[in-house]
Amino acid sequence: MNASDLPGAPFLAYRDQQLFIEQLRLQDLAQQHGTPLFVYSKAAMLHALSAYQRAFAGRQAKVHYAMKANSSLGVLQVFAQAGCGFDIVSAGELARVLAAGGQAKDVIFSGVGKTRQEMQLALQAGIACFNVESEAELDVLSDVALSMGQVAPVSIRVNPNVDPKTHPYISTGLKGNKFGIAHERTLQAYRHAASLPGLKVTGIDCHIGSQITTTEPYMDALDKVLDLVEQIERAGIPVDHLDFGGGLGINYNGDTPPPADALWASLLARLDARGFGQRQLMIEPGRSLVGNAGVCLTQVQFLKPGEQKNFCIIDAAMNDLPRPAMYEAYHQIVPLTLSNAATQVYDVVGPVCESGDWIGRDRALNAQAGDTLAVLSAGAYCMSMASNYNTRGRPAEVLIDGDKAHVIRARETVADQIRGESLV
Ligand code: LLP
Repeated sequence: MNASDLPGAPFLAYRDQQLFIEQLRLQDLAQQHGTPLFVYSKAAMLHALSAYQRAFAGRQAKVHYAMKANSSLGVLQVFAQAGCGFDIVSAGELARVLAAGGQAKDVIFSGVGKTRQEMQLALQAGIACFNVESEAELDVLSDVALSMGQVAPVSIRVNPNVDPKTHPYISTGLKGNKFGIAHERTLQAYRHAASLPGLKVTGIDCHIGSQITTTEPYMDALDKVLDLVEQIERAGIPVDHLDFGGGLGINYNGDTPPPADALWASLLARLDARGFGQRQLMIEPGRSLVGNAGVCLTQVQFLKPGEQKNFCIIDAAMNDLPRPAMYEAYHQIVPLTLSNAATQVYDVVGPVCESGDWIGRDRALNAQAGDTLAVLSAGAYCMSMASNYNTRGRPAEVLIDGDKAHVIRARETVADQIRGESLV
């Protein structure tokens, strides 16, 4: 393995055959905290953020971390302290932002199905903007705001009908998707929004999908959004901010997405060329800020040779790492200690009672029962999507800062899981 190709490098690297995250040896962390264990590098998160910050230097732009990627309080705190705002999709996420020291005025609220109660809570808190996804939502939000004697700041999420060329489950900007308001109906929706007494139009928003690895879909979406802004403003409705969503991919298995600064250099050049370079800009990146900052450590329980397949049964499962089961996603699985010993090909599977409970297929590994493995690129959409299926407690999480390890979430116990349940 070429060390610089390791997703997460240089914050994740082998030294003397041992895998380190920042200054700490992952084997030591596994021993101290047990497995399965999520381990995150704070420096890797800040490094990923810095690429966006470089791109936006001298611009009016704000990064709203899409916290659905990883909403653990300790992770949110890193981004709040670094000056980020947050993109939320529920009142629960708003509560997390506030608990982590973030401010409501830096929050934007996305999602197709906000409830009245969630709208109320967000208005009370004083969030920056609602990204509205349907005409019906405009009416309800105006109604809720009026009933509270408030005016809700809104931007409409446009569905530009652009193919982001990613997995169908995470592509959101195509006509057949449930997200946003169709390009053709956008002007009408803005006219409607502007006519509602409980709303104030502040911006426009677009998010076309996730794990996008080329620049073109962004360029296409950008042009379509700017065409719309021109139309909307010709109709006399000012659009103060432009929100281009998130979606930038990461390297899972040799993927080569553009670096955030290169992507944004191209997009800003187009914005400048079209006279929009000085607008207030917002983005909502999630995965690209945290995905490769995290790994999941897991212990090999049993090796089970078979006629057709060899299985390497680990103590992490689809409830901890749902992406392979949900999207057939690929995560690299590497040993914590490199060796030259012969490898065998295994399906790496968890203990959950489902054939879909696999973490990696056909992986060449030199593994023995008791060894610890690292599942890479596990900082985004792993812990935040983890479940208690099979009454498995969710893993602990540790945030590394140089040579310090901070436990940011204790391992979930059975008592945690059954709290709130009762017998008849
Ligand atoms: N903004 C909105 C409105 C979104 O829906 C999303 C992600 C983002 C921003 C952040 O996108 P990112 O920068 O992380 O690509 N669970 C899937 C990914 C689902 C993405 C959902 N929306 C996965 O594990 O691949």
